[in-house]
Amino acid sequence: MVTIRPERPGDAAAVYAVHAAGFPTQAEARLVDQLRAAGRLSVSLVAEVGDEVVGHVGFSPVTAGTAAPGVGMAPAAVSAEYRRRGIAADLIRVGLEACRAAGFGWAVVLGEPGYYARFGFRPAADFGLSDEYGGGPAFQVLELTPGALPAGAGLVRYAPEFAAFA
Ligand SMILES: CC(C)(COP(=O)(O)OP(=O)(O)OC[C@H]1O[C@@H](n2cnc3c(N)ncnc32)[C@H](O)[C@@H]1OP(=O)(O)O)[C@@H](O)C(=O)NCCC(=O)NCCS
Repeated sequence: MVTIRPERPGDAAAVYAVHAAGFPTQAEARLVDQLRAAGRLSVSLVAEVGDEVVGHVGFSPVTAGTAAPGVGMAPAAVSAEYRRRGIAADLIRVGLEACRAAGFGWAVVLGEPGYYARFGFRPAADFGLSDEYGGGPAFQVLELTPGALPAGAGLVRYAPEFAAFA
């Protein structure tokens, strides 16, 4: 059985290992550590099977003009042997709800549109929003609270830790 729960003290090494194994380099794993150290890992969830952490998703604040901050979803990873059974989808759904409950009104992601559309993400360009990384159609936005999406606000900025990462 898979449990989705907030990250707890003591999970950091396991979270690092999930990202280090999931991506070609350790950049994403380090990014999570840096966001956490900076106090910008606003929502951080793990997926657990037994007492093993098999997945993680992090959310950090993003800004657009003078609008109230939203969240950027990144990174997300699930251990290879546990993929394609909806664990990432569970992490994302629970994570987005936690962000909404924490007072964030909108969320962005840089990723595969065919995957993220199922959570309600739409091309950010349709709402007059752009990203710093040339994401094009991969840059998507989701309104979490009615009226909170900062349509037309232009450039969305991720946390500074992403600058070193990109
Ligand atoms: C991307 C990633 C997080 C997805 O994790 P996951 O737990 O396998 O994701 P899900 O199971 O929710 O969905 C993945 C696919 O499996 C499918 N799927 C979900 N449940 C399924 C099931 N029970 N049976 C068969 N397929 C299923 C989904 O439809 C989806 O496929 P699609 O995109 O072709 O429609 C994982 O592959 C990963 O860690 N990759 C490396 C890191 C990475 O690239 N992260 C994303 C960028 S931040």
